[in-house]
Amino acid sequence: MSKIDFLKTFIKDRDVASVTPTSQHCVKKVCTNIDFTKDFTLVEYGPGDGVFSKYLVNKMSPDSRLILIESNEDFVTHLKETIRDPRVEIHNVLAGDVETVLKPEEIGNIDYVLSGIPFSFLKKDRKIIVLQATKRILKDGGLFLAYQTSGHLKKPVMEVFGNLETEREILNLPPYLIYRVVKNEFN
Ligand SMILES: C[S@@+](CC[C@H](N)C(=O)[O-])C[C@H]1O[C@@H](n2cnc3c(N)ncnc32)[C@H](O)[C@@H]1O
Repeated sequence: MSKIDFLKTFIKDRDVASVTPTSQHCVKKVCTNIDFTKDFTLVEYGPGDGVFSKYLVNKMSPDSRLILIESNEDFVTHLKETIRDPRVEIHNVLAGDVETVLKPEEIGNIDYVLSGIPFSFLKKDRKIIVLQATKRILKDGGLFLAYQTSGHLKKPVMEVFGNLETEREILNLPPYLIYRVVKNEFN
């Protein structure tokens, strides 16, 4: 998708939250948390035009799987047209409803959840609902990775997961805070 089309999607839908896709530099930095030498199942919330998804598809193993959860129909259409790969599923649902599109055996067995959705736009109870669903779908030791514009997610993440690390990435417009959170770290 061109930068102009991305901007038009932002103008039509405030939940897109950013005028431009994440920079390649930031994509690579977030993805250093992912072990590409192993097979994994990764759920991505808010893939947008697929800047992370395409990077992941190029690096992940033949038996890995990528499940995309996107609320904006224009982005879903674009993703379906540009990512044709049997390892990838694309769903037009809200992140909080992720469990409705996963198979029962996938719940509790997801290795990574990667999120670009603007949590700051959600009311506190809705943030908690999304984080609790995320915790339920992850396996023990699974990682929740999120890139956000500020530290507003620290408190709700601590409430639901009880741990977090953050790292600032300034080579992006807007600058992002990258969250790395582990499910049941000490189990
Ligand atoms: C800041 S953009 C990030 C897009 C892309 N991942 C990137 O890094 O450039 C946020 C994305 O989250 C989507 N989104 C917002 N709220 C969502 C929700 N509750 N569930 C799923 N997707 C959502 C938007 O449509 C948009 O694609």
